[in-house]
Amino acid sequence: MALAAVAILPLAVTPNAVLASGPAAAATTAPTSALVIAHRGASGYVPEHTLAAKAMAHAMGADYIEQDVVLSRDGVPVILHDITLDATTNVADVFKGRARPDGLYYAIDFTLAELKQLEVLERGNKQGEQAFKGRFPRVGTGLTIPTLAEELAFIRGMNASTGRTAGIYPELKAPAFHRAEGQDLAAAVLKVLAEAGYGPDAPVYLQSFDFNEIVRLRKELGYTGKLVQLIGENSWNMAPGVDYDRLRTPDGLKEIAAVANGIGPTFTQVLTDQNKDGVAEVTSLVADAKALGLAVHPYTFRADRLPPFAASFDELVRLAVTTAGVDGIFTDQPDKALKALGR
Ligand code: G3P
Ligand code: CA
Repeated sequence: MALAAVAILPLAVTPNAVLASGPAAAATTAPTSALVIAHRGASGYVPEHTLAAKAMAHAMGADYIEQDVVLSRDGVPVILHDITLDATTNVADVFKGRARPDGLYYAIDFTLAELKQLEVLERGNKQGEQAFKGRFPRVGTGLTIPTLAEELAFIRGMNASTGRTAGIYPELKAPAFHRAEGQDLAAAVLKVLAEAGYGPDAPVYLQSFDFNEIVRLRKELGYTGKLVQLIGENSWNMAPGVDYDRLRTPDGLKEIAAVANGIGPTFTQVLTDQNKDGVAEVTSLVADAKALGLAVHPYTFRADRLPPFAASFDELVRLAVTTAGVDGIFTDQPDKALKALGR
């Protein structure tokens, strides 16, 4: 993935450029059709992946609402970001003694009936403190873990009652882990999507960090809807045998384009501050992907966690959309992203 140092841009949406941060950069904004994807719901305001967070995202006008999906012991797809329950529920209080030897409580060790006994909390860190200071307090409020089926019914209900359709953006979390546990996450999710009436032309992007699973969805499971390959860093160990450094190259992107419709890189793979001089540089990733017809939906845009090269959330969003030319962004604050985009 090459970095290109080019001239400062005034209004253009050309990638491969360098743009000064600060007020000059903010002046380049133009309304755009880039998708605003509510990352785990409006998770900047309400505990992630609760129906309350999804309601807020829908009300704010998010184009798509994200679901991270894992399976319960009895094979039911539920909405959770982690394969473990520790960071976002009170599992250690309710099911003391059910942790694995590594000290963690795995969702797949609990039946749906058991998972439903848990309260969802604002995300915590390893010390049990709030991961994002200033967000919703880390207290129980009776919020519970939704199943995928419940969440899809909830979103469709809001689509009907408001007259505005929000799409869905489910992510298969750790499919290889599920397979090792004797469960087929992809098959279970496809079944729920079909039962909920989400056909091939419905507003759905199905995503995964596991390229092997993306290939399997297309070639073996016959999925004909839109697929997005998430791109992380190799050091994260997201999926066995998947090399993100290679997937980001033109050859890797070609492999992705053979089976998928888009990529979901980190925003730092699109915009970097490699020289640590406070100036954002646009990498070649967006141009390389678009040349192959791939949409680019980077993650995660957080108003309360800005990179050094963006003085404000507005500026970060505009750098990604207007300057780098991405097609959509995952954000914890859909309202602020829409505002930054003039919507
Ligand atoms: O799926 C896009 C983005 O959500 C990927 O990161 O870890 O928040 O699922 P994560
Ligand atoms: Ca996700």
